[in-house]
Amino acid sequence: MAASFKELILCLFFMTSVVLFIPAYSLPKKFTTSYFDEAFSRLYGDQNLIVLKEGKSVRISLDEHTGCGFKSRSTYQYAFFSTSVKLPAANYTAGVVVTFYTSNGDVYKDSHDELDFEFLGHANNGSWVLQTNLYGNGSIGRGREERYSLPFDPSENFHNYSILWTEKTTVFYVDYVPIRVTQKVEAMAGDYPSKPMSLYATIWNGSDWATGGGKYKVDYTYAPFVSQYSNFVLQACSNSDCDDSLTTEERNKMKEFRSKYVAYSYCVDSKRYPIPLSECKNDSF
Ligand SMILES: *[C@@H]1O[C@H](CO)[C@@H](O)[C@H](O)[C@H]1NC(C)=O
Ligand SMILES: *[C@@H]1O[C@H](CO)[C@@H](O)[C@H](O)[C@H]1NC(C)=O
Ligand SMILES: *[C@@H]1O[C@H](CO)[C@@H](O)[C@H](O)[C@H]1NC(C)=O
Ligand SMILES: *[C@@H]1O[C@H](CO)[C@@H](O)[C@H](O)[C@H]1NC(C)=O
Ligand SMILES: *[C@@H]1O[C@H](CO)[C@@H](O)[C@H](O)[C@H]1NC(C)=O
Repeated sequence: MAASFKELILCLFFMTSVVLFIPAYSLPKKFTTSYFDEAFSRLYGDQNLIVLKEGKSVRISLDEHTGCGFKSRSTYQYAFFSTSVKLPAANYTAGVVVTFYTSNGDVYKDSHDELDFEFLGHANNGSWVLQTNLYGNGSIGRGREERYSLPFDPSENFHNYSILWTEKTTVFYVDYVPIRVTQKVEAMAGDYPSKPMSLYATIWNGSDWATGGGKYKVDYTYAPFVSQYSNFVLQACSNSDCDDSLTTEERNKMKEFRSKYVAYSYCVDSKRYPIPLSECKNDSF
């Protein structure tokens, strides 16, 4: 990110923390938000999608008939994506999966790329789990999942989830704080996503895997499960500078987040990967 943006963020950070004692980061000024209809088209479950606030916000839901999803009208090859999401607030959301991700699986069947935020529902008043993942050129046999708990209840308020994807680095952010950095190392080869992708958001029935490995299923007596999105940013790096280096401040914030909230990382799963995948030694584990 450019210096001006970082200064702005830091400035806002200190202003808000001094004045309100609430450390909140804001969207970098160089990124502009899009209206739903200009940026997206409906994917499925049309009847469960409601556009709100003249297109600044959208609500999608899962009920016993269907889930719902939408997809960007354009494809992007290296970009910054961001959205605010408020997750379903039911007391039981097991099996429910809410997503914000990029993919080109519609174009490349056996060699697709993908970058994921996936929110996995909870049983019995538990907490939502956040999962991130990365695939390149059809590397589905080599999942790169990480799972996190969150410092807040993501169903109570909107929070910001962003992906910066450049030729060399992918950064996942929660409330503009980096939580995961994956650097392309040579040994990753095609496993690093490199082809144009669309941006998606969906809500669906993931009963067979999402909660307790499939132990807890969607209970439709708690339906509809409603997720709301706003502050859509889809900005190609060619139209904006995508500086993927992190400041010391950002590195420290990431370290702090990771020390508290990482619940699982493929990089330290020696059962699955007796020899950690090559990019793992470069990451901050
Ligand atoms: C999310 O981003 C929006 C737009 O920049 C900002 O107004 C809001 O304060 C952010 N929310 C949080 C929880 O950081
Ligand atoms: C939800 O998914 C589970 C597991 O795939 C399936 O058995 C169930 O029928 C689905 N429920 C609905 C209403 O689609
Ligand atoms: C959760 O359960 C409590 C107690 O039954 C109820 O008051 C509350 O409204 C429920 N929350 C939601 C979001 O349904
Ligand atoms: C969630 O908690 C509320 C009380 O806070 C309780 O009434 C409700 O039954 C709980 N729901 C589930 C699914 O455990
Ligand atoms: C991607 O996969 C295809 C086959 O599915 C292969 O021909 C190609 O060389 C791979 N590209 C890279 C960069 O690994």
